[in-house]
Amino acid sequence: MGQTMYSRSLTTNAVHIWHAELDQTEHSADLIQLLSADERYQASRFRNSIHRTRFITRRAFLRHVLSQYCEVPAREITFSYSAYGKPLLRYPTSNLRFSLSHSEHLAACAVTWDREIGLDIEKVRTIPDISDIARMFFSAHEREGLARLPANMRNLAFLNFWTRKEAYLKAVGKGLSVPLTRLDVASLPQASDAVRGTRIEPSQGPLWLMRDIKIADEFISTLVVEGENWTLEVASNYGISVKVDFASAHTSARCHNMGK
Ligand SMILES: CC(C)(COP(=O)(O)OP(=O)(O)OC[C@H]1O[C@@H](n2cnc3c(N)ncnc32)[C@H](O)[C@@H]1OP(=O)(O)O)[C@@H](O)C(=O)NCCC(=O)NCCS
Repeated sequence: MGQTMYSRSLTTNAVHIWHAELDQTEHSADLIQLLSADERYQASRFRNSIHRTRFITRRAFLRHVLSQYCEVPAREITFSYSAYGKPLLRYPTSNLRFSLSHSEHLAACAVTWDREIGLDIEKVRTIPDISDIARMFFSAHEREGLARLPANMRNLAFLNFWTRKEAYLKAVGKGLSVPLTRLDVASLPQASDAVRGTRIEPSQGPLWLMRDIKIADEFISTLVVEGENWTLEVASNYGISVKVDFASAHTSARCHNMGK
């Protein structure tokens, strides 16, 4: 890690995914050196040391990943933020696009050229109050789908919905200004129509392709990328290795506009 620079080849239509174990407390004194003053300030605001270390590690991880493609030392990278909080590269100027996600002790980062991208990972865990959360964030179609499932499948289905919606949200980059109750995704891992459609984007808006990917045991994750002709090309580890298994990527679906 540190300041070693590589020129990692990322072809035009490829998406690379990296992942990192965040609970590496023994490295955090080194990792914080890579962060900007602003990031250090954000880190200092975490009262819980686990959350602080995870924040420091995931920002250092993001910088390290980006430096692989930009040929700029990790600590020299600067970010700007869209009006909705989506981070973009400010320095160096680049068409590289990225999306960072973390859940508990795991972070993952997806990078590609020239297309918007969104990644979300979630640790599989028991979610209390599924119905209440679904009422706030899920479409009527999604809520019906959830209610039809046997009770023992509902928790995982809920997480699938959630991860897919978050990944879409991050790709589109408009944060929670997007009315999530108007976005329909499928709940089941095997579903071939993961995104049933969205009434959010204007009709000439981009086509989004959604794919569930397996990054680590006990985690689910979804990648949403603008356009159709992209491929997951390599998987890379960072820090303590967690196995990546793209052979188990099983869902790929078009996200299209459904009118109003
Ligand atoms: C912030 C948000 C983008 C995702 O947050 P999250 O899932 O809790 O956390 P993740 O680790 O997966 O993603 C956070 C990263 O996304 C990126 N991000 C932040 N705002 C973003 C935006 N508007 N668009 C794209 N990416 C964004 C940042 O890199 C951020 O990293 P940071 O915390 O180090 O700054 C946003 O979707 C959110 O606040 N969600 C709240 C939960 C919710 O209501 N979800 C409804 C789903 S049904």
